[in-house]
Amino acid sequence: MVEITFITNGGKVVSAPPNSNLLRVSLKEKGGIPFKCGGGLCGTCKCLIEQGLENTDAVKPKERRHLRPEDFEKGYRMACQTFVNGDIKVSWQSPGTKLP
Ligand code: FES
Repeated sequence: MVEITFITNGGKVVSAPPNSNLLRVSLKEKGGIPFKCGGGLCGTCKCLIEQGLENTDAVKPKERRHLRPEDFEKGYRMACQTFVNGDIKVSWQSPGTKLP
């Protein structure tokens, strides 16, 4: 099992099987990552992998429509497009706020 820490949700920690979709885990475990479409279109689910970025899978083309190369360098991903293979810690901003 992998451990996912939802920093913005009071540091809530949940376990999930390896190769889990980050947004699905958030929905199932009430992690709290914002979302709308669940399908890589809206960009609402963008989040920051603060620890364990190396435990996430490759960036998908859909993510490149909403995130810039420098965002990926900082660790931003779209939760609905991201699969997790090891422990991570994730935070996010309220929907509608711009990335710093
Ligand atoms: S929820 Fe819409 S892009 Fe992820």
